[in-house]
Amino acid sequence: MKLGFPVWAFSAILAAALLSCAVLALTPDGIALLELKSTLNDTKNALSNWQFLDDSPCKWTGISCHPEDQTVLSISLPYMQLGGIISPSIGKLSRLQRLALHQNSLHGAIPNEITKCTELRALYLRGNYLQGGIPSAIGNLSHLTVMDLSSNSLKGAIPSSIGRLTRLSHLNLSTNFFSGEIPDVGVLSTFGLSSFVGNFDLCGQQVQKPCRTSMGFPVVLPHASSDEAAVPAKRSSHYLKGAVIGAMTAMGLALVILLGFLWICLVVKKERAAKRYTEVKKQANSEPTAKLITFHGDMPYPSSEIIEKLESLENEDVVGSGGFGTVYRMVMNDCGTFAVKKLDRSREGSADQVLERELEILGSIKHINLVNLRGYCRLPTSELLIYDYLAMGSLDDLLQNDEGKDCTLNWSTRLKIALGSACGLAYLHHDCSPKIVHRNIKSSNILLDENFDPHVSDFGLGKLLVDEDAHVTTVVAGTFGYLAPEYLQSGIATEKSDVYSFGVLLLELVTGKRPTDPCFAKKGLNVVGWMNTLLQENRLEDIVDERCTDADPETVEAVLDIAAKCTDANPDERPSMNQVLQLLEQEVISPCASDFYESHSDYS
Ligand SMILES: Nc1ncnc2c1ncn2[C@@H]1O[C@H](COP(=O)(O)OP(=O)(O)OP(=O)(O)O)[C@@H](O)[C@H]1O
Ligand SMILES: [Mg+2]
Repeated sequence: MKLGFPVWAFSAILAAALLSCAVLALTPDGIALLELKSTLNDTKNALSNWQFLDDSPCKWTGISCHPEDQTVLSISLPYMQLGGIISPSIGKLSRLQRLALHQNSLHGAIPNEITKCTELRALYLRGNYLQGGIPSAIGNLSHLTVMDLSSNSLKGAIPSSIGRLTRLSHLNLSTNFFSGEIPDVGVLSTFGLSSFVGNFDLCGQQVQKPCRTSMGFPVVLPHASSDEAAVPAKRSSHYLKGAVIGAMTAMGLALVILLGFLWICLVVKKERAAKRYTEVKKQANSEPTAKLITFHGDMPYPSSEIIEKLESLENEDVVGSGGFGTVYRMVMNDCGTFAVKKLDRSREGSADQVLERELEILGSIKHINLVNLRGYCRLPTSELLIYDYLAMGSLDDLLQNDEGKDCTLNWSTRLKIALGSACGLAYLHHDCSPKIVHRNIKSSNILLDENFDPHVSDFGLGKLLVDEDAHVTTVVAGTFGYLAPEYLQSGIATEKSDVYSFGVLLLELVTGKRPTDPCFAKKGLNVVGWMNTLLQENRLEDIVDERCTDADPETVEAVLDIAAKCTDANPDERPSMNQVLQLLEQEVISPCASDFYESHSDYS
């Protein structure tokens, strides 16, 4: 017993000494990284080699260092299924140039301390669950070239200090909950709709949505007062003059407006009373005549206007039809345009609640490469789904009927479509909870916007609207050539059957031919069999769509290789959609947003 204390004390001192040696050995950047790790939830154990006892973090997964002083230059951990929050310790990495944590499951705020990383050039946080706002001092990051914060749950105002980032060439804040006026200052004036799309409460010239009425009154929330304009506004003197003139005019017209307002109120009230249908909440005793559900405030119009527009859809508004019904183009009074799918299914009263709940889940799924479901309406004679309208229509239309259109899809656009569609599908498979199997991936369910960016449509509808017997009907309706053999046999769709369909889609992008094209259907082959035959005969040039004059053999071969992996007869051998996405990003698309920075950066 008496010897016990000295032995214990000696061991403790020895351990402390060893520990402090180890702490002293690891560089300060290494310690900061371990602090970062401590707030991350590393479910896949991807950071297992981030060890306390190492001298330097430079060989750790995802880390690269400046060669001269071993400080951390880049953290690259996309698609790692990392949860947790980004620790404020990030600010200790003073020489960090690239932070790539996209497509994880991070939540919490973007720490203000990130603005201490003054050498930061590329910030990729796309596809997480980050909340809160953009740190207002983001303008301190004067080297920033790429900032991608898309597909998160960020909110608040867009800080005007972003305008100071003169080197910023790629900004993506899309699909968040930002609100208010986008400051029209500095470099912020140069970005367009695609940088901000999917933030419904933003206004400004960038999103072609005015913030003020012609009288100078705000149309939507002004941007947050805490975000003081760090860059002088372009037309500040004009604003001053405008304010004086505006104030005088406003006073003069105040009476007229008041009278006008009262008159409009009266008219609207009368109109409402005359309407046959109104938005109806659940009522105990009376049978509702119309029910409108909009998801997440995605339809900023009065219910009466929406219902009126839905009711007045006519044949001339039809843009197409498919397995679930007819699609119409609906134009609102302010020219906002939506696609409306009138469902063919017969109504089953008992299933309505289930349907509404499931639709609400689909309506909550937001991603830049998915078509946004904005609402559902049940009228006495029909059921309607309201979606974003994609101006360029479906990939199928563009591939099959481009005569007379001035938009032939070239190879680089097709690669962009492949990558974006993979992003959307990977999001459904890997980032949604519960995960969503699409069941109906095909070129008519890839819709394109004005920039030919792809948006996957109709996800989840298969499960929701098709009962087991009707499954066959949808197959006949144009999906046949896309279906995996095991899905055709069993009728059970899985992520791997989606991957197969995606492989067929890739082949369609390369060949420009539908999987049921007569040229090989006659020979009893589908597009997969046809490709295999031609590849065995080494006839690459016969495979590629002749309209792709810019196609190069390397990327064509790489895409065909990925397509072959996806269409493997054995589902277990097929890659997951996240792997497909990585393959496309790594082997095919170069430079893409993230690689662009790598290949154009000035660090060695
Ligand atoms: N949101 C949209 N924006 C613009 N056009 C659309 C939209 N949704 C559908 N369309 C057009 O309507 C056509 C029919 O779409 P629909 O989804 O009904 O059928 P499909 O995609 O051919 O088959 P399926 O019913 O199996 O999805 C599409 O090919 C496209 O041209
Ligand atoms: Mg469709």
